[in-house]
Amino acid sequence: MNVREIAPNIYWVGVVDWDARYFHGHALSTHRGTTYNAYLIVDEKIALVDTVYTPATQKLLDNIRKIIDPAKIDYIISNHSEVDHSGALPALMDLAPNAQIYCTKKGAEFLEAQFHRGWEYKIVKSFDELSLGKRTLTFIEAPMLHWPDSMFTYIKEDAILMPNDAFGQHYASSGRFDDEVDVDEMMEEASKYYANILTPFSSLVAKKLKEVADLGLPIKMICPSHGVMFRANPGLILEAYQRWSTQPAEDMVVIAYDTMWGSTRLMAEAIASGVDEAGVRYKLFHIPVTDRNDIITAIQAAKAVAIGSPTVNRSILATVSPLLEDLAGLKVKGKKALAFGSDGWGGGAVAAINGYLDKAGMERISDGAAMRWKPDAAAREELKQLGRQLAESVK
Ligand code: FEO
Repeated sequence: MNVREIAPNIYWVGVVDWDARYFHGHALSTHRGTTYNAYLIVDEKIALVDTVYTPATQKLLDNIRKIIDPAKIDYIISNHSEVDHSGALPALMDLAPNAQIYCTKKGAEFLEAQFHRGWEYKIVKSFDELSLGKRTLTFIEAPMLHWPDSMFTYIKEDAILMPNDAFGQHYASSGRFDDEVDVDEMMEEASKYYANILTPFSSLVAKKLKEVADLGLPIKMICPSHGVMFRANPGLILEAYQRWSTQPAEDMVVIAYDTMWGSTRLMAEAIASGVDEAGVRYKLFHIPVTDRNDIITAIQAAKAVAIGSPTVNRSILATVSPLLEDLAGLKVKGKKALAFGSDGWGGGAVAAINGYLDKAGMERISDGAAMRWKPDAAAREELKQLGRQLAESVK
């Protein structure tokens, strides 16, 4: 991948990872790969903003060498210490031992805990500035967006915001900018990224957006650490974050289930039929054949959710647990919810699902629908009624 000069003497020197299909171990699917963005600013002093994931180190070094000798780097700005942005730091510090690492207090703690190199860290706080000569970097702490150490770097003279993970997308592409890619595809990835990573921090996202808006900083370009950079329309991603962080959702119901011998599937279909009769859109997902992160993204966009599982060992099927664990952990709150499931001789699944829905902060419309064996016509009518009720609750 070629380096790109994104503004005079400011270069994208990152790495595109077309192969990445999972992130955070195997917790997050990345169907369209990802990028690790790093930015080199060449001024009287030379600064590198963030590095890349360890396996991509050589490509980063090759890219930097197309512009300057890495030994000449004066400052390395570590906006976030997670290894997908700090993995190349040891190699860079070996090449440029006099480079100073700028990061938050937590950043220093986390970098040291991961690399044990005894580097000296220059700790920065919000609105501290670093002059590179003609350019000035301003730092803005952004704790829990999405780690305690996170911060943004703003280049004053160019009005460029480098917010690291915020506004990112796991999206490999030949284009580096928003006007060089399929915008719908890019925003689909941005939405999935938000739903699966930033949802629990929505109130902090809203607060930070307001704080940045109140500062009145002009923003000509947003250069996140993953995916494409926004130069044609930075407002697009800012408005999307505004929307997602206040968690409004569409008049839509997501029904997600697994089934053992088809009974819970019949229940899901009957609920869907009721939602349909009420004139509300719905999406029906069979959990084991659908990517979990895609289901979470759909749930994040919907006002109501129904989750179903048959009872096994007095609880839910193991295939349903990861989705419920994620929903509870992500605090996908404020949605109307319904649990359902079939059992043969002793229930347990519906109560277990209810526990997760409560933990997520959802509003259950009932104690759920637990049914024995295969639902007959009368039972399916009851389920349709619950589907109608769920649909009416989102109107
Ligand atoms: Fe939190 Fe892209 O790492």
